[in-house]
Amino acid sequence: FAFTPANQTWAEAQITKYPEGRQASAIIPLLWRAQEQEGWLTRPAIEHIAAMLDMAYIRALEVATFYFMFQLQPVGSVAHIQICGTTSCMICGAEDLIGVCQEMIAPKAHALSEDGKFSWEEVECLGACANAPMAQIGKDYYEDLTADRLREILTQLGKGEVPVPGPQNGRYAAEPL
Ligand code: FES
Repeated sequence: FAFTPANQTWAEAQITKYPEGRQASAIIPLLWRAQEQEGWLTRPAIEHIAAMLDMAYIRALEVATFYFMFQLQPVGSVAHIQICGTTSCMICGAEDLIGVCQEMIAPKAHALSEDGKFSWEEVECLGACANAPMAQIGKDYYEDLTADRLREILTQLGKGEVPVPGPQNGRYAAEPL
């Protein structure tokens, strides 16, 4: 693994923001940049970042495995679907959304769809409980979901369309900034 020259320059700049001896504090932005570059975090990427920060690989791996924003295996080329499965979302229908993912993507979480375009997983609360059930798709939140609406969203994404994020039933929908 190697950062692109632009990402390497960016990563080195991040490290200088922390006091001497505290370079390891830059781990999250560096892991995130590596994931944005490669699509997911490979072991060589984590090793490379650990070496840059002068920390043990296991320490870097601990961080990478703690947060579910980091993916340690390949994700769909179009989208990785994160279904919130915590209390509000589970009460309001998360299991139905998981069922759609199992039916349209793959029976098991983290497996790729046959065409490689999609993957999915269940995650803990994403902080949008008022609009449960919800999912994070890429960097966007799709809230007030139903199984049918999630099916439509996956179909749209598969065609290269970008479904409008936010509450899918229109409530609290803000005007575009
Ligand atoms: Fe699903 Fe909080 S319980 S966003």
